[in-house]
Amino acid sequence: MTHADPALIDEFHIDGAWRETRRYGSGHIHDTFLITFEGSGLASRYILQRINAEIFPDPEALSRNLERITTHLRAKLSERKTLEPERHCLRVVNTRSGEPFHADAAGDAWRVFHFIDGTRTIDCVEGPKQAYTAARAFGRFAVDLVDLPPPPLAVTIPDFHDLPKRVRQLENAAAADLVGRAAGVREELDQSLRQFARIEAALAACGADQLPERTVHNDCKLNNLLLDARSGESLCVIDLDTVMLGSVLFDFGELVRSGTCRSPEDEPDLNRIHFDSELFDALARGYLTGASPFLTPIEIAALPLAGPDLTLENAVRFLADHLSGDRYFRIQRDGQNLDRARAQLRLLDLMLNDLDTLRTAVERAAEERG
Ligand SMILES: Nc1ncnc2c1ncn2[C@@H]1O[C@H](COP(=O)(O)OP(=O)(O)O)[C@@H](O)[C@H]1O
Ligand SMILES: [Mg+2]
Repeated sequence: MTHADPALIDEFHIDGAWRETRRYGSGHIHDTFLITFEGSGLASRYILQRINAEIFPDPEALSRNLERITTHLRAKLSERKTLEPERHCLRVVNTRSGEPFHADAAGDAWRVFHFIDGTRTIDCVEGPKQAYTAARAFGRFAVDLVDLPPPPLAVTIPDFHDLPKRVRQLENAAAADLVGRAAGVREELDQSLRQFARIEAALAACGADQLPERTVHNDCKLNNLLLDARSGESLCVIDLDTVMLGSVLFDFGELVRSGTCRSPEDEPDLNRIHFDSELFDALARGYLTGASPFLTPIEIAALPLAGPDLTLENAVRFLADHLSGDRYFRIQRDGQNLDRARAQLRLLDLMLNDLDTLRTAVERAAEERG
């Protein structure tokens, strides 16, 4: 089925006459569309998504997780008497037969959300205030899920942030050298392994093996947060498919990786890559403000290493994909995954050179929170 097939749209429990379907947003995983309906003179809008089955082969597990997470978050909104709670939490529209997604004859799974109006997402952070707001929202999100009733959420991507495993995969990809690119990336490979040893040692030194497991978002990209288009305030954390047990390092680390560098992820000119410590400061203050009710001393001690950790993880994954023939990350031009890997390695270098500044910023933010 295609996204604009009236029979597909008709599967979902939506009143009114379907008017339009168009591609929407800048997500990289699912195919996302905005659909518009009209009824009694009023237009209503929804988000339609084809779930990426290669990455998420079990749409039932995704839907069950989504239902548990959103039910829990809605209860928190109600406790806090939040105004317009429907703008602060994703809401699924069931199919006419009461299911949370529709599986078509081709095996694709489709789902629909209420569209949250008057919002915007950002791909690249625009300034410290925005960095603070986004980090606080993801911190609060983790706090809200701390008392999610057991059992733990289903694991939707096994070993998602297992850096040692990612490094082994990189080494295997280099050894297999399926597309003959290994000779051209010796330098990047060596650099990745060196930095891996360095980060592992630093994590061990601050007791990171004792980090508590928590339900976290696991994919804290800025475009997974809806901001109010007028006020710029954070409204709703979205893209909940990777929410599962993990560590706060995964969330804070992704915020730091994606939120402290103003150049594109695949910037080929490494001289244009800068680590912005003012943005880091804002992210640290935001995350600690949002998550301070639950962060333990070990978590706070490990937070400065979160950015380097996740930046290396991404470098390793981009490089492994380059070596395997670009099978996971979509590319628009040859060598793009190598550029992405190099850009991450440069950013990582800058972070590690500035590690004392990162530590001081986290300590200061933690003291401010008491
Ligand atoms: N309920 C919603 N209301 C408004 N916009 C949404 C909603 N859900 C998703 N979006 C938009 O669609 C984009 C892609 O959705 P997302 O679930 O993040 O998919 P992906 O996993 O591909 O990143 C988001 O970045 C956001 O701009
Ligand atoms: Mg997304």
